[in-house]
Amino acid sequence: MKLEILTDPNPILRKPTEEVARFDMELQTLIDDMVETMRANDGIGLAAPQVGVSKKIVVCEFEPTSKNDYPGFPLTVICNPKIKTKSNKECKMVEGCLSFPGIGIMVKRPKDVQVVGLDRYGKPIEIEADKLFSRVMQHEIDHLNSTLMIDHIEAADIVFFSTGKFGLKTLEALNSDPQYRIRAVVTDSKKLKCRGKNIESSPVKELAKKLGLNVVEITSLDEEFTKKLKKLKPDLGVVIDFGYIIPKYLFEIPKFGIVNVHPSLLPKYRGPTPIQSSILDGAKKTGVTIIKIDEGVDSGPILSQAEARLTKSANFEILYDYLAEAGAGLLLDTLPYYLTHELKPTNQNEAKASYSKMFTKKDGEVTLQTPAVEVERKIKAFYPWPGVYINLNNLTIQITAAHFDREKNLVIDRVKPAGKGEMNYDDFKRGHKILLTFPNS
Ligand code: NI
Repeated sequence: MKLEILTDPNPILRKPTEEVARFDMELQTLIDDMVETMRANDGIGLAAPQVGVSKKIVVCEFEPTSKNDYPGFPLTVICNPKIKTKSNKECKMVEGCLSFPGIGIMVKRPKDVQVVGLDRYGKPIEIEADKLFSRVMQHEIDHLNSTLMIDHIEAADIVFFSTGKFGLKTLEALNSDPQYRIRAVVTDSKKLKCRGKNIESSPVKELAKKLGLNVVEITSLDEEFTKKLKKLKPDLGVVIDFGYIIPKYLFEIPKFGIVNVHPSLLPKYRGPTPIQSSILDGAKKTGVTIIKIDEGVDSGPILSQAEARLTKSANFEILYDYLAEAGAGLLLDTLPYYLTHELKPTNQNEAKASYSKMFTKKDGEVTLQTPAVEVERKIKAFYPWPGVYINLNNLTIQITAAHFDREKNLVIDRVKPAGKGEMNYDDFKRGHKILLTFPNS
């Protein structure tokens, strides 16, 4: 019978367990049910407290799959287990637990252990466990001692580099994960541009202050800042929408270097405007990539990547918010594996690299000769900045919305003539002798 698994927080997971004394039918049934429950949940280990029974019983089993290269181990049932010896050598690995669905935690444990206990019939057994088997044994024996994997967290020290809005979700996510301690939020203190508008203070600074984090404002990555960073002894740097190219002498300071969240499927769209550029190209898919930064522009080795379909109607603003959120999620899913060396970065394929460029107001200009497809893409890519506009009869008209009709002709919906408010194109046409039509090729 499949049993219900208790999830954290639950007082039973923290209750002391009793030794198994009777190896009777009741015990056999419980063990069979535990095995069935573990298998039904794709688990590789289960301890009795997790199914609400405060007894010293552990079951575990792992069949290797093609998806990973961990060595398997056979179904093992052990009652009253004790760790007899453990190796001095320790290793860090990401662990999961059926009582913490969907969560991966970095845990440092002795590499090998020798476990003694009784089998399901009460016969003494001794197990030499290494690699994954050793880890599962230790994790499950922890459960019998009311210890959970979260008790092993040793937070990694992180320095967060960000100025623009794209990093806000990531900062929030890192800050709410107990596996990370944000030692400093480094942000540009100069008056900065955000989507074309000048703003006084970095949105990252505002959020960091709200979260009670240490804010380091900089105007350059100078020697003084280098000293400051060294003093923090960070394990890792995270850079996202920062506005500075980080030089080698800085990205070599954190033990694990500095990782970057980039809103494109690298090596495509390196550089400053990956989101707009993918829309302008009519790309069918987009995504986010986590890289370890090197001296080039977005050219460092890839830690992970998540793809997303680029919906026809998505404009810059929608895609920006979507990828900011996706980037935060991907980073949190990736870091534990990177920080335990379980994930090896892979180099980008230089031959497939492409670059995005900075846009100016001028890029938003179209003429009556601009192909309709290009006009429509520009409206999406350049929303809200720099916008799409056309100069006709000494009048600058911004086109704010358009769509293709069934005949694939571009129909203008909304415009904003210079010095006036936004209006329906039909209303505009009545007042001006101007027709906005764009060729279909
Ligand atoms: Ni567990």
